[in-house]
Amino acid sequence: MARKDLKVLEAIASLKNSNHRDTEDTEKVSFKLENVVPWGRSMQEYVRMFDLSPDDLKLKILDCGGGPASFNCEMNRQGYKVVSCDPIYQFSADEIVQRIRDTCQKIIDGVRVTYDSFVWQDIQSPEHLGEVRMAAMNKFIEDFPVGIREGRYLTDELPVLSFNRSQFDLVLCSHLLFTYSDQLSIDFHLASIVEMCRVAKEVRIFPLLVHFSGETSPLLEPIINNLHELGYKVEIKQVPYEFQKGGNQLLRVRS
Ligand SMILES: C[S@@+](CC[C@H](N)C(=O)[O-])C[C@H]1O[C@@H](n2cnc3c(N)ncnc32)[C@H](O)[C@@H]1O
Repeated sequence: MARKDLKVLEAIASLKNSNHRDTEDTEKVSFKLENVVPWGRSMQEYVRMFDLSPDDLKLKILDCGGGPASFNCEMNRQGYKVVSCDPIYQFSADEIVQRIRDTCQKIIDGVRVTYDSFVWQDIQSPEHLGEVRMAAMNKFIEDFPVGIREGRYLTDELPVLSFNRSQFDLVLCSHLLFTYSDQLSIDFHLASIVEMCRVAKEVRIFPLLVHFSGETSPLLEPIINNLHELGYKVEIKQVPYEFQKGGNQLLRVRS
């Protein structure tokens, strides 16, 4: 085992022994679609959330936790190469559509209640948000069966991915890590980021806020410190996208 891998395992083990909540109950249960709130963003949003340059688009990209986003579909239609992985890809398109139908209105209602925590500019209202998200998710649903056959949508799950070391140039992870800091432990975050760094030269994570509270994730600082200690290059970068107020930064991690 490489020296760096050993250091990573030791760091994660010591975090497990720290006083952060142990998430064995939440993280070891089998994955259930009813626990997922499928909510997919478009390629245009990904480009701004991750500050993707024209050259970035040409890279071998993994969209980790891609869910029902239309990024893969739209990129593929424009001739770019993206693989998306997510545990929901084990379900059929019909099952995912049903789950979207069951949750969509609830999300919009939730956004209405927390109206002031969003920037209503490009997306003008909770109703408009529903239309924009459904347009992206409909593109995903149409593309999903073809993308499964082409190996563009793979069932895979953090914190352990089945990809080879350096198989990708860039991993993108949107609205999973940090967003669910209230449900996913610090050891899960660290192990997931280290794993994404194993499969690509660079990892970008967006946003750095916790979902409903809109606060910067309390895990951000300790995670950055741990990654520095492990020898990773870490940078917080401003991006030209802000829907959740204050959600206009990404975390960039490189080996
Ligand atoms: C809020 S959605 C974000 C979807 C997409 N990235 C976007 O921004 O439009 C979060 C996604 O993370 C996926 N997910 C949950 N646990 C995961 C894990 N352990 N590894 C990878 N993806 C996971 C969920 O299935 C869901 O599709």
